[in-house]
Amino acid sequence: MLILLNLLFCVFLLCRYGIWPFTFFTKMGVDGPRPFPFVGTMPYYIRSLNFSFECSKKYGDVWGQFEGRSPLLMVTDPDMLKVILVKECYSTFTNRSTFAKELFGPLKDGLTLVEDDRWKRIRSTISPSFTSGRLRQVFPIVERYADRLVKTLDTEKPDQSVDVKKFVSPYCLDVITSASFSIDSDTTVNPDGPLSVQLRNLLKMKIWPFFVIIALPIAQYFFRLIGFSIVNKASVDYFQNLLKSFKHDHKEDKSRHSDFLQLMIDSEINESDIKDGVEPSKGLTEPEILSQALIFIFGGYDITSATLSYILYNLALNPDAQQTLQQKIDVHFPKHSPVSYEDLVNLEYLDNVISESMRLLPTAPRIDRMCKKTIQINGLTIPEGTAVGVPLTNLHRDPRFWTSPELFKPERFSKDHGEDIHPYAYMPFGLGPRNCVGMRFAVMVMKMVLVRLLQDHYVETCKDTVVPLEFNMLFQPKEPIKLMLSRREL
Ligand code: HEM
Repeated sequence: MLILLNLLFCVFLLCRYGIWPFTFFTKMGVDGPRPFPFVGTMPYYIRSLNFSFECSKKYGDVWGQFEGRSPLLMVTDPDMLKVILVKECYSTFTNRSTFAKELFGPLKDGLTLVEDDRWKRIRSTISPSFTSGRLRQVFPIVERYADRLVKTLDTEKPDQSVDVKKFVSPYCLDVITSASFSIDSDTTVNPDGPLSVQLRNLLKMKIWPFFVIIALPIAQYFFRLIGFSIVNKASVDYFQNLLKSFKHDHKEDKSRHSDFLQLMIDSEINESDIKDGVEPSKGLTEPEILSQALIFIFGGYDITSATLSYILYNLALNPDAQQTLQQKIDVHFPKHSPVSYEDLVNLEYLDNVISESMRLLPTAPRIDRMCKKTIQINGLTIPEGTAVGVPLTNLHRDPRFWTSPELFKPERFSKDHGEDIHPYAYMPFGLGPRNCVGMRFAVMVMKMVLVRLLQDHYVETCKDTVVPLEFNMLFQPKEPIKLMLSRREL
């Protein structure tokens, strides 16, 4: 009997633990969907990826949801976003809300995850890598690899559909490894070389531990104890050794390199330079250099190729926009003439196409910040420790800010004849001091390959194209995006 009572008491405690934080938003006076024990509001996402839209409709610009037991305040009010992402970024919303950072292995020192003064130091050290002067320096590399990629189409069989992400990703990898380390990984020609195989392994992160931690946060101490990491250890070791050897080469011969790694090596500091947690204003330690290099590869390879595949998909679905773009490309860049950095930057319609595609299909569907001290915004008190989420998909399709938001209309971004774009309703690269540091690089890389590709080819949907796209819980397409790349009759 005593055992049974003890058992019932344990079950009672466990149930209380599972629902304990769920009064958080009621106390704040914020409405939201009803959470389930342990898993919070996550089952709603599994049921429908339109969950955020449904919440916006029902609760307005602010609502509360739970990632497991952790509260997440969702905000789509532009005035509040201005405060959260820009005005109070340094004082209150400096960091992201990522938890269980140790699970990220060496990536935990990357700019995306580091916090406060350490973030400021690393950000100000690597930002100069992406000035227009630097981008001009890497521009010839980008052009070379774009040409190389388009040439591979000569050997493709006509009338065969292409998995577009798979098609563009070797180009993205070649560009980022060359711009970062001055090496020619040549994955465009040799897609199954060791570098791309290891990178693919690195990108296959385990996500189940997050679900375990979301339901049972205590599990993270166990994972830490056994040194568990969500990234593939063998691939991490491979990259760390590779980067160390690049670093050695760069140190031996500085004159040869003007790449991102050289800039980081030039600012190398020792761990001992960070005394009692007091951060110098600039500089990177060796583990930090390796982490940033890996983060660059992530951004430059996976996210850029996913974004490019969405742009090609939108162009295939909207042949009029594609034709207008091709006409502009033909005028600005006659075939076989070299493309200059300035001309590429100034091709406005190409910018409009990229912006519109990233509005409809933002590669990162949500950004977030952690509130590090209690603050009142628009009459709402947000307690210290509250994670704030911004669903970009909602903002980008909100009829308050966009006319016919479901349509692909690049012209809406035209400087002279476009719509008034609300500055806090559009943020495919995030917003404020913590936005994407690689944005200008990514846009240049995407523009270059689009010009080279559309000079000679057009993209079309085919029987293998899934319309509309269907996404999994991680907001990645369930099926690869398949399109036809056909030669243009000029
Ligand atoms: C089309 C491609 C890309 C997209 C859509 C993209 C999108 C984003 C977004 C949405 C964020 C979060 C911003 C925020 O929280 O406000 C971000 C952060 C970041 N991105 Fe990108 N990104 C891309 C390419 C790149 C590239 C090529 C690099 C590096 C070479 C890069 C490096 C980073 C870094 C380091 C951060 C963290 C910045 C910080 O915390 O200070 N990204 N990116």
